Amino acid sequence: RCQPVDLTTANTLRLPCQAERYVVPKTLRALQYAVNEAMDKRWPITLLGGGSNVLLPSKLTGIAIRPGMQQWWLESDGESVVAYVGAGVNWHSLVMTLAARGLWGVENLALIPGDCGAAPVQNIGAYGVELKDVLDGVQIVELASGNVRWLSAEACQFGYRDSIFKKTLADKVVITQLALRLSKKPLPRLGYGDLAARVTAWSSCLAVAQAVCAIRQEKLPDPQVLANAGSFFKNPLVSSDQLSRLLQTYPSMPYFPQVNGQSKLAAGWLIDQCGLKGTRQGAFGVHTRQALVLVHFGGGNRRELLQFAEHIAHRVFEQFGVELEPEPRLIQA
Ligand code: EPU
Repeated sequence: RCQPVDLTTANTLRLPCQAERYVVPKTLRALQYAVNEAMDKRWPITLLGGGSNVLLPSKLTGIAIRPGMQQWWLESDGESVVAYVGAGVNWHSLVMTLAARGLWGVENLALIPGDCGAAPVQNIGAYGVELKDVLDGVQIVELASGNVRWLSAEACQFGYRDSIFKKTLADKVVITQLALRLSKKPLPRLGYGDLAARVTAWSSCLAVAQAVCAIRQEKLPDPQVLANAGSFFKNPLVSSDQLSRLLQTYPSMPYFPQVNGQSKLAAGWLIDQCGLKGTRQGAFGVHTRQALVLVHFGGGNRRELLQFAEHIAHRVFEQFGVELEPEPRLIQA
């Protein structure tokens, strides 16, 4: 445990990273033990999941903890079923298992990489569904006290790729279990154009999940084959004034009106319009099929990746006056 551990293959961007200590507790008690020891010895704690949404530093001091709890079970509750899921369960396998059983709710979130425990942190979302739409609550362990408690979905303060776990509870709690509310009655959400073109309102839950997998496989590179962390930037929000100005110059620009009057733009489209799709700088590149994804060809480091990302954001700002913000989390050394 006190030997440095190489986390280069434990992050899907394959950024070189040496951690002073790394542990994968398989039970709640083992996790509490690891947390207590780290607190006693004043080791800084870094919480990791599947490593698919992080920008790791080359040296990570203290201890990196990846919750490894694999237990999950279902409880019937009227027309719905609640799935209690350990933080270490792989998100995509859970989605496919639930979809195969005809339990509706998470099928649009198929093929999102990573562990269940990380899903609430950034409120994972795709094809018109976000985790917050199905989450009943999360079980957490407080780092300072080791105490276990539950947070309601409302208490998680979910927003677009955002939650309390990135704000006031950042580095204060570990997510150890999720409670997901699923429907036994068909509840297809096919509002997203790409999806509606492939399935119908009568398709099975598994068919919807498989259609989502097919769409994602067409656009998004498989991190096992080409290192990446999914979308590298968040889709930016603009005011209605800024939107109308942009639409005058770029009438075909895609945008998604939000409830608060702002609109979300497609960062991938903005980057694409700057002619950056498929371009490369050293070890990093803009993916050829989805400009929002930055890929790592090997041999690069975080500093170079951030320089490349800054260059892209700068080009987008020059052309559109819109600021792009990275989506993966920057982990402190
Ligand atoms: N577009 C382009 N060129 C590109 C990429 C996109 O013109 O290179 C256009 C598309 O044609 C479309 C629009 O931009 O009109 C949006 O593209 P897409 O549907 O591929 O989705 P996105 O906005 O780029 C978001 C999420 C994805 C999620 C998809 C599907 C964010 C930051 N990204 O991408 O999430 O899978 O929607 O719902 O919100 C992730 O977070 O890692 C991720 C992959």
